[in-house]
Amino acid sequence: LRASVSLHTGRTLGEISPLLFGGFAEHMGRCIYEGIYDPESPLSDERGLRRDVMAALKDLNFRIMRYPGGNFVSGYRWTDGIGPRAERPRRRALAWRSIETNQFGPHEFMEFAEELGTEPMWAVNLGTGTIQEAADLVEYMNLPTGTLYSDLRAKNGRTEPYGIKYWCLGNEMDGPWQIGQMDAHAYAEKALQAAKLMRWMDPNIQTIACGSSATAMPGYPDWDLTVLSHAYNQIDYFSMHHYAANPYPTVSNTEDLARDTDSFLASSLHFDEHADTLAAAIRVAKAKNRSKKDVYLCWDEWNVWYRAKAGDGGWSEAPHILEEEYNLEDALVVATWLNTFLRKADVVKIACIAQIVNVIAPIMTRRDAMFRQTIFYPLALYSRHARGVSLDPLVRSPRHATARYGDVKLLDVSASFDEATGEGATFLVNRSQTQALHVTLGWEDEAPQALTGAWQMSGGDPLAGNSFGDPDAVTAQPLTLPTLDGGRVSLTLPPLSFTTLLS
Ligand code: AHR
Repeated sequence: LRASVSLHTGRTLGEISPLLFGGFAEHMGRCIYEGIYDPESPLSDERGLRRDVMAALKDLNFRIMRYPGGNFVSGYRWTDGIGPRAERPRRRALAWRSIETNQFGPHEFMEFAEELGTEPMWAVNLGTGTIQEAADLVEYMNLPTGTLYSDLRAKNGRTEPYGIKYWCLGNEMDGPWQIGQMDAHAYAEKALQAAKLMRWMDPNIQTIACGSSATAMPGYPDWDLTVLSHAYNQIDYFSMHHYAANPYPTVSNTEDLARDTDSFLASSLHFDEHADTLAAAIRVAKAKNRSKKDVYLCWDEWNVWYRAKAGDGGWSEAPHILEEEYNLEDALVVATWLNTFLRKADVVKIACIAQIVNVIAPIMTRRDAMFRQTIFYPLALYSRHARGVSLDPLVRSPRHATARYGDVKLLDVSASFDEATGEGATFLVNRSQTQALHVTLGWEDEAPQALTGAWQMSGGDPLAGNSFGDPDAVTAQPLTLPTLDGGRVSLTLPPLSFTTLLS
């Protein structure tokens, strides 16, 4: 089958925000404890941070990191996590029926984020937490010394303010599973008042209000329009959450539904529509508020997640929950999701893969080893190479029928171009399970001199994945560089493949 992609560096979709390549670290399961922080591992440094995990996280080049939850945050008392470790309380974390030891807290997270070179994005507790506690936390983290909480920070070892810029106003407050769930009006008012106080404390912060926790929620998109309309003037970003699944939708009786890889691989049609709907809601809310400022989308939970759904930690520390094992088709969906972020680069400005270690994550650990899951590779490639502007590619591709999305192009593409360096990147996913695609890639304006890098992930088995025993079964392999001929490149994309080309 033949397909073609045509690029013009002047035909653009928007500036690519570096914050699209973000992560999310929640106090749940083995993400923080035994994942990032494990003083008992021989692989940890003197602070208890896993050296091998830190190196892999650096490969992922995360620009922003959401913390400390997730559902956890809606019952979290941030004061539990400060001061001498021996004096920090052990508590029942109700969201995941786990024991929280508080051995890792605000200071440890900031040390971790500083070492990673990533921007922190802090979620405040709007479940059991008050707007005053949220403002106190801003004081603790961001204000120069001289008042109660800023002085307490100094007493706990950090004189200089941390200056955290991005603040999430709660988490998934529409969900019945959420500690302190609210209706849209109650949440909108609480988020507005919290943001107001937090901003009075530090006018430099940016706030992110909660959107619906899934498109499958009965309140979607009314919740979103209500919150946006009411709180518009106090928010800068609006959050989106979605987890993709095969079969879809994720319901408790998934075993009754048949797997459908063709539909799963076409999930980006859903991702595109989700972003379009919320972008429209933002426009409506902007008009209703007679506002001149823009609000952007913050897709701060996204990933494939449908196998390890049970979230009951059995009241233990660092329970093995949500330890999803990823395969090739998951990596391809992740690549098409990143294509969506580039396609919607004008309005999606922050995105955080949920999560980063062990819990629905690209990295899996045990005390003496780690491995990279399949989804690690697309995350690393986009994060390293997608920058500048997102190009609007003209894609001609054969289509195939899918049960969920109708006729869908076999080839899914995004492309970036960095004017400052002249470097470009094209990301191509062949969704077909059986057919290779012979693709011609051309540039309508000045073609690059040569390709400078190429990687490909592919394989005959959509269910193949990596493990401790076979850590490199499915990875992105360097390709022999295709040659440019008359400003065009021809290459064959195997079935079930993801290819990155640099120029
Ligand atoms: O990422 C796992 C959980 O999924 C988060 O805690 C919650 O926000 C979402 O439901």
